[in-house]
Amino acid sequence: MKRFLIVLASLVALLLPTMAFAGGSQEGKGSKLQVGVVLPTKDEERWTQDQTRFQDAFAKAGYNVQILFSEKDSAKEKANVESFISNGVKAIIICPVDGSAAAAAADEAHKAGIKVISYDRLIRDTASVDYYVTFDSVAVGAAWAQYLVDRAAQNGGKGLHLYIYAGAASDNNAFIFFQGAWGVIQPKIADGTFVIENSSEAIALQGKKTLTREEEAKIIGQVTTNWSPSDAKNISESNLTAAPNSAKGVCYVLSPNDQTARAIGDSFAADKAVTKYYTTGQDADRASIQYIIDGKQSMTVLKDVRTLVADAINTATLYLQGKVPPQTNTYNNGKIDVPAKPSAIVSVTKDNVKAAIVDSGYYPASDFTGL
Ligand code: BGC
Repeated sequence: MKRFLIVLASLVALLLPTMAFAGGSQEGKGSKLQVGVVLPTKDEERWTQDQTRFQDAFAKAGYNVQILFSEKDSAKEKANVESFISNGVKAIIICPVDGSAAAAAADEAHKAGIKVISYDRLIRDTASVDYYVTFDSVAVGAAWAQYLVDRAAQNGGKGLHLYIYAGAASDNNAFIFFQGAWGVIQPKIADGTFVIENSSEAIALQGKKTLTREEEAKIIGQVTTNWSPSDAKNISESNLTAAPNSAKGVCYVLSPNDQTARAIGDSFAADKAVTKYYTTGQDADRASIQYIIDGKQSMTVLKDVRTLVADAINTATLYLQGKVPPQTNTYNNGKIDVPAKPSAIVSVTKDNVKAAIVDSGYYPASDFTGL
């Protein structure tokens, strides 16, 4: 925490001489908005966390940051980008609702000479993306699969019941998470440890260690939650209705984020033929931390949004100073290889939940019961 605050303080110190943010209560009159942030939706804790952490980073320095939400609507997102363009921003930090649909907005911004920083989700199919601020999303999927593989090894046996679910096909991350998960789980399907119970498309490809994007798309299309808890509830309920009791008992469930993991977990909990289930997730939603404490979700992946916010601010600052942000990786967006420096993630289970979530300063203990 202390180290983080020092890093943050130095970032903000670096930033203030070069940037001004609209709506800043202490901002000098007439100073120009230089950076805009566009986030996909207020309906998910994940993105209100990002909003809070952006605001915290600037509040510490007496500034507010202007953040526009796109309400899961690509047209609204484009309008948000256009409003920042007409305000004369120099950089836009944008988390797209739909990776490919966002290309047009990115193109417009680029034409206006604005740096485009793709935030958490990659903008696809355009050369107008300068940088990708991201977590290591392959590691996120790998952490889910590793968790299930470890439980299988502990419990022993063959032919264990595996149910797989994915994020929205319009989100490039859904592919990266799935790729990370498949790399770890596929060998354990191939050797008979797991049997896939809910996806004929995945069964058809279970002999292949590495899948093409088209192959991943077939599986994701069949098991998508669309990042929606109600879709997740519906698909898991209909999978369980279709499955015979012999495909239930102890179930290993690859679920793609916390809000869908809670919905999917609730479906498995309600099925009398399910005796035990393991679910995975990500985001460290407070409701899921409580589920983990209560034994209703097995794990989540903490993606410390404070890090991502600091990376985004740092990247924008460097661009405003005419410098090049640090790069360790590239991500192909269908058109170009976008430079990035992915941040590490942390697997969280009941065993380390207090250390990872509370002792780290991410959330106060008072947010939870039974810790
Ligand atoms: C993000 C996740 C989030 C999901 C749904 C993904 O792109 O990386 O953190 O849970 O979108 O909003």
